[in-house]
Amino acid sequence: MEKLIVEGGIPLHGEVRISGAKNAALPLMAATLLTPGRHTLRNAPDLRDTRTFIRLMENLGVKSERNGDVLILDSTHLNSTEAPYNLVKTMRASVLVLGPLLARFGRAKVSMPGGCAIGARPINFHIMGLERLGVICNLEGGYVDAHIDGRMQGNVIYFDIPSVTGTENLLMAAVLADGTTVLRNAAREPEIGNLIDMLNMMGGRIDGRDTDKLTIHGVKELNPADCTIIPDRIETGTYLIAIAATGGSGKVTGCNPAHLPALLEKLRSAGLVIDETEDSISISWPARLQETPILGSVDIKTMPFPGYPTDLQAQYMALMTLGSDICVITETIFENRFMHVAELQRMGAKIRVDGHSAVVSGRGMRGLSGAPVMATDLRASSSLVIAGLAASGRTDISRIYHLERGYENLVEKLTGLGARVWKEQE
Ligand code: EPU
Repeated sequence: MEKLIVEGGIPLHGEVRISGAKNAALPLMAATLLTPGRHTLRNAPDLRDTRTFIRLMENLGVKSERNGDVLILDSTHLNSTEAPYNLVKTMRASVLVLGPLLARFGRAKVSMPGGCAIGARPINFHIMGLERLGVICNLEGGYVDAHIDGRMQGNVIYFDIPSVTGTENLLMAAVLADGTTVLRNAAREPEIGNLIDMLNMMGGRIDGRDTDKLTIHGVKELNPADCTIIPDRIETGTYLIAIAATGGSGKVTGCNPAHLPALLEKLRSAGLVIDETEDSISISWPARLQETPILGSVDIKTMPFPGYPTDLQAQYMALMTLGSDICVITETIFENRFMHVAELQRMGAKIRVDGHSAVVSGRGMRGLSGAPVMATDLRASSSLVIAGLAASGRTDISRIYHLERGYENLVEKLTGLGARVWKEQE
């Protein structure tokens, strides 16, 4: 197993280019199952999770080909409608094949994902929604075994809580249904907008993009897609936070600032200078603080989009350990997303967890020191990288396969910003 070594205390400077979004790539790949043909996905990130998803698709009979960041998926000849446990257990997003397989073949058998490091993460909304469209779902032997005779029938589906992959699964199911489906309290994340654009390009008829009411007028058939994956907003935010945490300055390019309204507002409130163009974000300290940066402590509460994203909570907490005061970080999306706290404490962070909130007492910009720490999930791992970059001394982060799930060329990109990071065998 590999670990990541970070020699901290070096301010990051320069430019970093953002890759395509993991959480948009996965549903867009699943959508290619909807109709036979050669589908083209551009700006496709090459990550552990996208590779796992390709294996899952190949298991169904899809042929894949990659040329740089262009991914071709040929879903003409499928020979299975089953997503097995050994693939689903490594990546929950595998459940995204349920909707499109049912829409195309009227049947699908997908392993239940089980719990994960950040919470229980049930899929009851996905199942309830499919049942509202007429699908019969049997839960047996750890699998959802679902089928329907004929086409699904449009209906109104209400989500108790906006669910990202739940909304995506039902969009893909309803696009080929008979009649109109309305999703209420749907998730509004930018990745869902990307999927809606792709489905509409394929011949779907979906209204309400970027709102919590999505109306899907079912169509009889779709065409193969040629679609571009949006930039990864979580990768964008992670680099902005890393630059800020080291007291550096830089520019993140190939991104979409409109996808990060809450983070940019929080960074400004904490005292950083943020300049946006249509596809880049520059971050720096005001002139008077460039020599000795002082970071404001600013509370956050994670919320569905456009609120503060849960996927940037851990990274922001690493930043706030360097603040000048106390702040409260409240996690409302997942019940167990504070696994990074104990690791950050090993580096000197002062954090107290009380239920869904963490109270962070900032120790100032040089307040952390390097230590051996362990990655527990994807975003917790990136918070440890940020803490390591800001800390004095050396941090060894073990189990970095978590990081490889969602950050393309992390070592190269950080090195390009002047960081001293490398991988070693454990
Ligand atoms: N929920 C249910 N029942 C369901 C579905 C969701 O109770 O059937 C609850 C969840 O337990 C959670 C809330 O609803 O409390 C929202 O979960 P959501 O369904 O939106 O999460 P997800 O679709 O499983 C996606 C991302 C996650 C990201 C969340 C929240 C993908 C592939 N994954 O997960 O990304 O944290 O939305 O924004 O899009 C990551 O990239 O590190 C990651 C975990």
